[in-house]
Amino acid sequence: MCSRACGFPASQPSICRRWCRSTHRNGKRISAKELDVMASQRRIIVGISGASGAAIGVNLLKAMRGLDGVESHLIVSASGMLTATQELGIKRSELEALADVVHNVRDIGAAVASGSFVTEGMVVAPCSMKTLASVANGFSDNLLTRAADVVLKERRRLVLVARETPLNLAHLRNMLHATEMGAIVMPPVPAFYSHPTSIEDVVNHTVGRILDLFQIEHGTLVSRWSGLAHDFAR
Ligand SMILES: Cc1cc2nc3c(=O)[nH]c(=O)nc-3n(C[C@H](O)[C@H](O)[C@H](O)COP(=O)(O)O)c2cc1C
Repeated sequence: MCSRACGFPASQPSICRRWCRSTHRNGKRISAKELDVMASQRRIIVGISGASGAAIGVNLLKAMRGLDGVESHLIVSASGMLTATQELGIKRSELEALADVVHNVRDIGAAVASGSFVTEGMVVAPCSMKTLASVANGFSDNLLTRAADVVLKERRRLVLVARETPLNLAHLRNMLHATEMGAIVMPPVPAFYSHPTSIEDVVNHTVGRILDLFQIEHGTLVSRWSGLAHDFAR
């Protein structure tokens, strides 16, 4: 049970949603020091915000779960949960079970809110225009945007899988601002040259390209371009 008397019987790192709303493992709030001990070499924060494309965040977590030495830290915004449920029919508990550690988006005191908690960086997938605007303007009003702000200030890798179409000038300007600060804006645009035959193919190609940006070997998610066949090139 949670040591803060919320009655949360967590056996894996997870959030208490009944009372204290902080990151837990074995019924106790996880301190940054404990998270340090848990750490394998490569911690990556995964933010899921309320843009369309929740499958990208979900499949990213699934891919990371299968990789040795990679530790995922999940933060889902309220709208992110809404879109994930609308698009995938997934429950919060099912989504959270895919991550190694789950942080409540309202827990602004979580480990990932500080630069002293070392991570490789963060992916926001999908990234809504609202979250993009927050990140681009340093407006850290929840843990997801604070964690992204920290990643930028520490000069770590921040990948924003920004999804909207068409784009207005504010969206474009915010993408420019984020890029100028060092973020990588990576809209989830399908690669038709790989001849995808399913939505899963399209999603996994994006997931693989995200992992490429962290130089994480992931096997077969991306169908790699190896040049035009000789017949076409003529
Ligand atoms: C089903 C659904 C799909 C949405 N798709 C997008 C989208 O593709 N891009 C976007 O910027 N906002 C989209 N929104 C709106 C965002 O969820 C909304 O702006 C929200 O405030 C974003 O909050 P967050 O960035 O804190 O998650 C969508 C909303 C819903 C309900």
